[in-house]
Amino acid sequence: MQDEDGYITLNIKPQKPAPSSVDPASSSWWRVMSLILLILSLGMVAALVALGIMSVTQQNNLQAEKENLSGTVQNLAKNFCQHIIQQLEENQKRSADHKCSPCDTNWRYHGDSCYGFFRHNLTWEESKRYCSNRNATLTKTASKNILDYIKDRTVFIRWVGLSRQNADKVWMWDDGSVLSKNMLEFFEDGGENMDCAYFHKGKIYPTFCKNRHYLMCERKAGMTNVDQLL
Ligand SMILES: *[C@@H]1O[C@H](CO)[C@@H](O)[C@H](O)[C@H]1NC(C)=O
Ligand SMILES: *[C@@H]1O[C@H](CO)[C@@H](O)[C@H](O)[C@H]1NC(C)=O
Ligand SMILES: *[C@@H]1O[C@H](CO)[C@@H](O)[C@H](O)[C@H]1NC(C)=O
Repeated sequence: MQDEDGYITLNIKPQKPAPSSVDPASSSWWRVMSLILLILSLGMVAALVALGIMSVTQQNNLQAEKENLSGTVQNLAKNFCQHIIQQLEENQKRSADHKCSPCDTNWRYHGDSCYGFFRHNLTWEESKRYCSNRNATLTKTASKNILDYIKDRTVFIRWVGLSRQNADKVWMWDDGSVLSKNMLEFFEDGGENMDCAYFHKGKIYPTFCKNRHYLMCERKAGMTNVDQLL
């Protein structure tokens, strides 16, 4: 065996300088072949990369579609629930049996918010804290729509989330936005030291922050639980 190996090795060595003696036509054929093979394998690598990119894009598209779909279903469920709750309220059936519950018990669902009406005589600051302890804020009654909604649901004076630093400063909602000009027809300006606002019968009035009134809180409605609706 060793002899044979040796023989082969020896036999190969003298052939080393041989390439020059190889037929030039055959050599260029090999070159063409290896070039073709190289091009083919580069092509395959490119194809694999492209496939990879396509599948990632496809997955992203699928993901986006899935999110879009669940958003659509969520919206559908929301509209459905708003409709049901509105119908029930119109028929004065407050505690009817339905599975629309984007708000906690005793909170009312309107628009995208849940409203909590509380009968505690608190100062404005205390009311603000009372709401924030419930992950809510004093209600922002910044549209005719919401003023009307609340007017139909309470006859009491209730604190809202509107205040000013002092008589020289602007009226601001708790979220930092300024009382808009088109709300002024529902707002009666007040005197010195009347820096906190309450709601009564569809309008907002300023008064002393240390006064004690009932309150209403607001927080964003949760997701409608679609599974429970079906
Ligand atoms: C969601 O789907 C709707 C209709 O199928 C389409 O008009 C809308 O552009 C899509 N939105 C997104 C973010 O893909
Ligand atoms: C809040 O105060 C008003 C006026 O002082 C009073 O009539 C009402 O009973 C009080 N409500 C509560 C829950 O203490
Ligand atoms: C307020 O939010 C926190 C954190 O999300 C939660 O742990 C807590 O139970 C919430 N409180 C109420 C009254 O919903």
